[in-house]
Formats: sequence, structure tokens, C-alpha cells
Amino acid sequence: MYSDTSKKKLNSPITLSHLQKMKSEGEKFSCLTAYDATFTHIMNEAGIETILVGDSLGMVIQGQDSTLPVTIEEMCYHVRAVKRGNSNAFLLADMPFMSYSKPELALDNAAKLMQAGANMVKLEGGNWLCDTVNLLSQRGIPVCAHLGLTPQAVHKLGGYKVQGKTGSAAEKIRQDSLDLVAAGADILLYECIPTELGKEVTELVSVPTIGIGAGKHTDGQVLVLHDMIGINLGKRPRFVKNFLTDGRSIQESFEAFSQEVKDQSFPSDEHGF
Ligand code: KIV
Repeated sequence: MYSDTSKKKLNSPITLSHLQKMKSEGEKFSCLTAYDATFTHIMNEAGIETILVGDSLGMVIQGQDSTLPVTIEEMCYHVRAVKRGNSNAFLLADMPFMSYSKPELALDNAAKLMQAGANMVKLEGGNWLCDTVNLLSQRGIPVCAHLGLTPQAVHKLGGYKVQGKTGSAAEKIRQDSLDLVAAGADILLYECIPTELGKEVTELVSVPTIGIGAGKHTDGQVLVLHDMIGINLGKRPRFVKNFLTDGRSIQESFEAFSQEVKDQSFPSDEHGF
């Protein structure tokens, strides 16, 4: 079913304009996290359009209990590795905890990630980030803003909990989304929010949205590599599906993910909130 890889492989580099066009045409796109060259190459072969070098590497690679200990140097190391393995996917890189606590600091650290090979940086937070997003955007650095459950704030949030469940919390996420796009954000990523809110914000903003635990309506879907091939050591979150089943190879599991994102069979209701 997923064996004809010739049609899957990306033939030219994916850019922000491609993702914008996909949004306007209603075509869904996929994103997976990667931390090394080999998995990145296989994701390219499977036609995964966007790859995130996530600070989740703190947990799935380093064995930390949160993303907070990850440093900018460690992020740059993994971005360089992923860049070497990448041919055509659009590469996002996470800015680690406190590396963007002030706009000028954010500019210096975002420059390091871009020089390591990222095409876009991702920061977690709401409209308090607008000055930072604006500065990066003015200096030519594409920005993805991560809203909803922001794992770097896990201790403030009191755990990895679904966000935006009350009327006021949902309104805050809608307003933050509009403010961040006005400040220059090029992509918005939503983690663990109700499916209906994922639909509303995707229709509200002009830029592509990516969801993880945000329902099927976002323009793109992202999963952490280790989760989607079923090798995460921790408890499997509700929004995760293991695609490395039914005798598939790793490449076929990536193709299955991409296919199910495109035909909107993933995520299904059981993966949403
Ligand atoms: O670090 C990461 O892998 C992420 C995803 C959960 C979106 O930010």
C-alpha cells in the first residue's frame, strides 16, 4: 500500500511558499522530529515535507525528564547533523529554554541555528513574544510560534495538560495567534488543544498551522519520531499513533503517516481532545 516510493520522494526543496500554497489549496502536510542524518534521509525518501529538530531531544535522545536542560550548542549540533542528511524537507529548529528570553539574545541564538542549517526557528509562548518575533522577522529569520501546551513551561503549567479548554483560555490562544502573526510569525504550532479550537485558529490565521494533539483540522501534523515508531520509553500520549506496525519498514511507517495526514484519517477522534 505504501511501497511506491518513487512518487513520495520530494523533487525540489520545500519552502515557506509551498506550505502557504498547500494551506490555501487545503492540502495537508506532514512534519516529524529528527535529530540525526540517517532518519532525516529516510524521511526525505518518504516525502515528509517538514522536519523539526525538536528540543524533545532532551528527553528522547539525552534521557532527561524535560526539555529544560537542552542548550543552544546541543541544538546546533543536532541541526548540523540533520542538515547533512536533508535534501528537500523544510527544516525547523527549536530554540531551547531561556535562549530567547530577551529579543537581542533571541537574535543571537536564532542566528546560530540558522547558520547550523535551519530554515526556521521555533519558540514557545504567547503574545509576550511579539517583540522578539518582530525582530527576528525583520532580520530575515522565519519564525514558528508554539502555542497551547508549551513543554518548556511544564512546571508553570503543572504538568503536560491540555490547554485552551475554558472560554477565556481559548480566547487567549485565538488572540495570541492573531498578535503573533501580526508580529511576523510565519507558522503557528499548537500542542494539546481541543480539536474545535485547532479548527478555529487554522481558519482564523493566514499562515500555515501545525498540530500535535490539536485535531485533524490544522494544515500540518507533527509527531515525535520515537513516539510514532513506538519506541518511546514513557507513557504513550493520547494523540500518538504507532505507525511502525503491520510489518512495515521504517520508511513505510513514515509514508503511512504522510498518507494518513493527507487523507485526514490521522489524527482521528480518538487522538483528539
Ligand atoms: O520538541 C519537540 O519535539 C516539539 C514537538 C512536540 C512539536 O516541540
